Parts: sequence; C-alpha cells; structure tokens
Amino acid sequence: KNDGQLKLSKQLKLPPDKVVNNKLNNHVNQNKTSRIKLDYNLLNFTPICDVTGKEAVSAITRAKSQICKELIVNVTCMGLQGTLYPKRLYSSCPHSMGFNKNPKKIGCYQDDKTHRMLTGFYTVLKSNNSPEQCALLCLQYGYPYAGTEYSVECFCGVEEPSQTKRLLDSSCNMKCSGDPRQSCGGYLAINIFKTGIKSFKAQEARNISTKIAHEKPARIAFLLTVNGRASRQVKRLLSVLYDPSHFYYIHVDARQDYMYREMLEIEKSCRYGNIKVAKGPGLRHASIWGGASLLTTLLSSARKMLEYSKNWDFLVNLSESDFPIKSNKQLVEFLTLNKGFNFVKSYGREVQRFISKQGLDKSFVECEARMWRLGDRKLPQGIQIDGGSDWIALNRNFIEYVSNPKPDELVSGLLKVFKYTLLPAESFFHTVLRNSIYCDTYIDNNLHVTNWKRKLGCKCQYKAIVDWCGCSPNDFKISDINKIRNTIDKNLFFARKFEPIIDQRIINYIEEYLYPMKFNNINRANSKNSYWQSLYHHGDLSPPVDDVLLTITNSLVRIIYSKYYHLNNNNYNFKLLEASVYFSDNKYQGILILAEASNKIIESSTIYDNNVNYYPERLEALVLSPRNFSTSKLWSNRILNLHVSTDYDQKEQTFRNFLSCVGPLSSPILSYEFDLSFVTPKNLTIFWIDTNNYLRDVNQIQVDETTLIGSIKPQLDEPLTIGKWNIFILADNVLIGQVNFFVTPLSFLNNHEINIKKIRDIHNGPINQKKLINNNNQKWINFLKTIGINLNENYDNNSNNIIEERTGDELNNWIDEFVKKYYKIDKICIANEFINNNVFKKLNLDKCTQTNWSSLSPDPKADINNICYT
Ligand code: UDX
Repeated sequence: KNDGQLKLSKQLKLPPDKVVNNKLNNHVNQNKTSRIKLDYNLLNFTPICDVTGKEAVSAITRAKSQICKELIVNVTCMGLQGTLYPKRLYSSCPHSMGFNKNPKKIGCYQDDKTHRMLTGFYTVLKSNNSPEQCALLCLQYGYPYAGTEYSVECFCGVEEPSQTKRLLDSSCNMKCSGDPRQSCGGYLAINIFKTGIKSFKAQEARNISTKIAHEKPARIAFLLTVNGRASRQVKRLLSVLYDPSHFYYIHVDARQDYMYREMLEIEKSCRYGNIKVAKGPGLRHASIWGGASLLTTLLSSARKMLEYSKNWDFLVNLSESDFPIKSNKQLVEFLTLNKGFNFVKSYGREVQRFISKQGLDKSFVECEARMWRLGDRKLPQGIQIDGGSDWIALNRNFIEYVSNPKPDELVSGLLKVFKYTLLPAESFFHTVLRNSIYCDTYIDNNLHVTNWKRKLGCKCQYKAIVDWCGCSPNDFKISDINKIRNTIDKNLFFARKFEPIIDQRIINYIEEYLYPMKFNNINRANSKNSYWQSLYHHGDLSPPVDDVLLTITNSLVRIIYSKYYHLNNNNYNFKLLEASVYFSDNKYQGILILAEASNKIIESSTIYDNNVNYYPERLEALVLSPRNFSTSKLWSNRILNLHVSTDYDQKEQTFRNFLSCVGPLSSPILSYEFDLSFVTPKNLTIFWIDTNNYLRDVNQIQVDETTLIGSIKPQLDEPLTIGKWNIFILADNVLIGQVNFFVTPLSFLNNHEINIKKIRDIHNGPINQKKLINNNNQKWINFLKTIGINLNENYDNNSNNIIEERTGDELNNWIDEFVKKYYKIDKICIANEFINNNVFKKLNLDKCTQTNWSSLSPDPKADINNICYT
C-alpha cells in the first residue's frame, strides 16, 4: 500500500576504501558512539574541531578532494557544536499538536487563498440552522498523520487550539475517526478523491459539473527534472502533456550535455514560448540520486517558474520516466475542483519508522556528486516530521510560500535541516505543509501510481552515489498493465516508471488509450514499435564516455568507411558523429553508427567557403552483435540466455551496456536466464578462462525456480587479458553451457588517445600473470580437458614473454580484427540530404530517412514538431 520510499540501512556497503568500509559496516549494528582517530595527514587544512565519529572519519577518508574533505569536517564540527540546525521550530498550523507560536482561530476560519473548499463546507453547515456553530474544530490525538494510528474528534465551536477543550460546545460534539480531513476541511476534496469523478451519483455529478463550469480551468506548471539520454521519451512525454495554456519548465541534470541540447531545441522550436529550459549555474544542478541538490533544483526551478508565468495554479513535477495515465482534460478537471489543495504522498505508517528508514536522523553532506553520511543528528522539536514521495502537485500559493527567497522562520529552519538530508524532496514539502498555515490543504495523494517491486528495487544499487541503501520503483512492463487498469476510477493521473528500452509496448498502449485519434499518426508510421536512444554524441563534453565504447565505435567507423574509401587516403577525415541503440518490436536490434568523411582538400581550400553544395559524406550503419552462447543438447531448452557485458541493472535484470563491450579495465558480468522447466535446484559451477587458457575465476551459483534470472560478477585481476575469453558452466561435472566474449585493447583512455606508457600498463594482462601458472590452475585446466572441453586453439605459449605495445595504425588494426569478428555490419544508408559526392553517387544505398531502422527515419512519437505545433 505504501507508495513512499523504504530505505534499507541494514546492509550498508560502502566503496571503495575497504578497510574503513568494513569497520563502518560492522559499526551499523554496534555501539553508535564508537570513535575512531582521523589521520590528519590526509588533510591540507586544520580541522576546526576534533572529528572522531566513525561515519564522519570514514567519509573524510574516502572523499578525494580537499575541498570536499573540508566541507565534511566543517559540517561535522558545526553539528557537534550544535550550530548546524535549529533546536526548535514553531508550527503555524492552526490545529497543530506542536507548538503554536501564533495560534489562529479556526472553525469558520477561511483563508481566501487556500481554503476555498472550506467555504463550501462552511455553507453546508450553515444550512444546518445553526450558523453560530458553523465552526469545525478538529483535534488530533496521537500521531497526526494520515493512516489509522490516530483518532480524531471534531467539535463545533470557535476557539483557539490552546483553549479548545474548555470552550467547546459539547452539545454538537460529533465524533469521527479515520482521516481527519473527511470531517475537517477538505471534505469535498477528499470525497472526490476517494470516489473518483466517474463514479459520482447523478446529482453530485451535476453539482460538480456546475462547479467546474463556473471555475476557470486550473492551469498547470509542469516541472520536468530529467537525466540520462532517453530524449525521445521526454519528447514523447511532452507531446502527450502539451497544451498551450500550461507551462513547462525542464531541468536537465547539469552533467547531461546531450539531453540539454535536445531540450534546448524543443524550447527554441516551440512557438507558444511556454516551454523553458533551466540554464546557467544558479538554475542547473548536478542533481544526483537522493541528493540535497534535488531539493535545491526543485526550489530554484519553482522560483523561476513563478517568475516566468503568472498564470499557473499548480506545480506538478515529473521525471523522464513518468507518463500520464489519464487525459489532460481529466487532470485539469480534477485540479480545477481542488484548487487550493496540495497533493503529496505520505509514508503512511509510524513517523519514527519513516525517520529511521529514511536516514532522516542522520546528517548527510553532498560533494563530489555523492551524499556522505556524517552521523546521527537531532531533528528540531516542536514540529511534525512527515514524508513519503517526492512526486507532488502543489498549488501556487504554497509554492510562493515555500520557495520565497525571504522565507519565514519555519521554512528557513527546515531549509537548514534539509540541506544536510538524504532524499530531501521526499520530506521537505510534506513537513512544511504539515506545520504551516497550509496544513488544512494537505491531501495524501501524489496523483501517481508507482510500480514498487521491492525485492528487485531495493538492492542497495545507489551505494556508489549515497552512503545508504536506497530503493527505486521498477519500470512498468506490458505484464503490469492491470496495475494501470485498476487506477481507472481513482484519482491517479501519472504512473512511474517507464523506459522504452525496457518496454515500449505499455507506453504505446497507454497513449493509444488516452488519445486514440492522435495515435493514428503513430499507428500509421513504420516506427510505431521502434525506439532509438543515444549512446554517444560528438558534441558532448559531459558525462565522460566509456573508453571501451569509444574504442569500438571508432573502430566501426573505420570498418564501415573502408568499404567505400581507402582509409589511408589522406584526403579524408573520418569522424564518429553519433552512436545509438536501436530497438524494434521491443527487442534490441543493434547499434547504429552515424559518421562522416570530410574531404580535407575541399574543406581547407577557398572553394569551400563559396561552395555551398559541399557536405561531408555521412553514413549510418546498423551493426549487429550476435550473441555467442551455446548449450549442451540436454540443456538447450532450459538455458534461455547467457550473456556477458558490463553495467548490469539488477532492478530491471538487464545490461545497460548495449554494445556489450568489455575492455581491460572493465568489470564483466555474466547474466543467465533459465527456463521455468528448471524444477530441481542445481548447483552450477562457472569457469572464467582467458585467452591464454588461464583460469581466472570459478563461481558457484544455486539455481532454483526462484532464481531463474540472475547475474554473477567474477573477481578478476585487472587489467584483463586482451582477447577471447571463454566461460564454461558445469552441472555435476558436465558441461551444460558456454559463452565467449572478447576483451578489446583500448585506443582511448579517459576519452583521449591512449599513450604508449598506458598501453604497456594496460594491454599486458594482470600484473600477477605469472602467479597464475601454478599447479592448481593446471589441474583445473586438465580437468576441463578431460571432460571434453575445447579451450582456445590458437593459444600461444610464448605470448606471455612478448611485451604488448602496439600503437597507432597497428593498434587500430588489432582492434578492428576483434571488432570484425564480434560485430556484423548489417545495413548502411546515406545520411546526407543532398548527395554531392562521386563515391556515394555510385553506391546503391538507401537514404537514411527512407529506411525503417535509421535514427534519421521518421518517428512521430518523438517528433518535436508534434509538440508545440499541433
Ligand atoms: C525513486 C523515487 O520514485 C523518487 O521519489 C526518489 O527521489 C528516488 O527514488 P528513482 O526511480 O530511484 O525514484 O529515481 P529517478 O527517477 O531515476 O531519479 C529521480 C529524479 O532525479 C529524476 O527526476 C531524475 O531525472 C533525477 N536525477 C537522477 C538526476 O537529475 N540526476 C541523476 O544523476 C539521477
């Protein structure tokens, strides 16, 4: 039921300083006050206090830069001195159980700005023939949070909360239980909210439609915080959400050049000017997962959105992986009826449990794109802490209040607290809402349905970014469609998460259901079931590209152009422009390489300036990467897949490295998928054997019906030996499956051409190569031979004595040999609009725009012309 986040703290694992790390892990369940000495030699500054807490010392030790170490020290010291956080804050919620600095009269209390719905309720009571008793006062006992663990009593009468009990009119005392807002303010909203507009009785429906007819439709400001490279999906989201009367503000993670350029293009092409992209240092942030910067992003974006547009009523935040599940019309109707309310989702259980699961009782500090855990802290007294999900729909007044550059004491106090809080956006808005004059406008619904599969989504997958084990929801697949169907009569308007590389069918399904007419366009196009996602773009400076990807894709450019040009012909420069991954019918098809050959002579000559007809010759190629696994006869139906690559996503159980390229510094992983018919649990043994027939690792896995899909990461000494590797899988000493992959030499290191020193370091296998030639290794190899396993044939006994130092063309040729063996160039098209070149003219190639597979072929799902021009 709980849509909020469950954060696991138990198995905290911290990279990469293993010594400190292990101690820290143990420390989690040990005495919290344990202390440790900080090595002052690590610092080039004098700490302002003596740091002894284990977590802080670990953070300082692991942080790389002095500036980050200093920040951690300073924040820790301020925490110890008690100057970091306010000790007490005051709630201005009229009926708060906390300390009320300025108690306000409630009951008939009517705030034009925020209590519109209360007015409606007030009228109803008034018609009860007791106008003086119109006031409704709700006292909350126990935990004043949504859910069942508190009781609520409502009384008629008018008084200040501190004196309520004495002045109550007991004659009209009515008891209620459950959600306080059912009987307090927000009655109507909750009612609509619970029943769903569609299921209203005729009279009620008439009332509602009269109300809607008299109301100005709510205007929405969408805040899109986007990250990654799925720009076509973001365009699709925008084209589905777009309406000239709404406002769209797009924040792209400061490190994502590609997505940023793509979004700028949309902003530029939108003729209504209501799509804006966050630009510049104060407005663009590196909003890491769970980071304090995500709150900074939301607040700075909110301020800018208020400034840009005076018209909107609600701010709704979405990410690249959200998608609507109701039409815009339905969303607008709902928000029109509920203007003045604020929609957030609460954890829904004991607040103390939430605080500890969420790490709210610990200080975290953000630097080096990481949230470092510093140790325990005390949250301010006098206020209610609340939180859940950071997907919200907040009204303009509340946004003005919470993002005010000159905040009041409550907001400024909470900002201090949340500056050093993990996942701050999941609690900040809730807590402000609960403790401010807007407390009556709190609705426990964030309008989202979230696909939680905690077994998959809570695998501590963010430990490289945060000192905590965080969870993420899963992507919706077509098999999850009922979860979406079940929301039909609920006030849920968005779902998350969606990724077309995981499943585009469900996105098509929803879009067609919501907008059948518009979908005709998509239906008619060949690309309905296709999806393209960028892997590389030559214009990107950030984030850094994987050197192995750069090596292989550049090799592919050489191979592609060698079909048509003499590569040694110095008249041409060959350049990789883009690499993308191509999916069709929900299946990975291959990699696309877009490249150009430019004629140096023409480009450097004066003719070039005047010759408008000259265009570098561009090609795009579809490259296949055949999968290389085989099984024994007996196991051919039981082993569905064996594959080696890097960047395995445990949540979605798939590799994110689509090219499956492995280099000497990579961490390869074997993924496996067994069939359901695999009924008897089996222990399998996995042998990793390098190109020189050395056994590099042996793993054991247990497979039963609950672990049919999984992965195994071997412990391999780096750098990995260049060449073909074999993996053999044995069950009861019998070979049941095998798969091979290759480790490519690198032509790039840290995104620059690799130098000879690094070549020698990296292309000669692990340093302890010799150590491996021992009896044990030989024993295993002999064993594998005796059971009939064929090892690498072209194994060269002397290879270890030669120092590998190929460079330049020789290195490139070596790489190209591997690439040709493992990848297949399937199709090539011409990417130029005008063909001005003799080489091309002679070729019988399709134009890319006229193919089904090219990234340049029409894709109405993600066509920006469909966004602002319809
Ligand atoms: C889940 C919850 O749904 C979310 O409420 C919580 O903040 C984090 O956990 P999850 O799927 O894990 O979400 O995160 P994701 O959607 O990938 O990222 C959250 C937001 O941060 C997105 O808007 C995303 O674009 C942004 N982000 C993430 C960045 O800007 N940069 C990053 O490096 C990572």
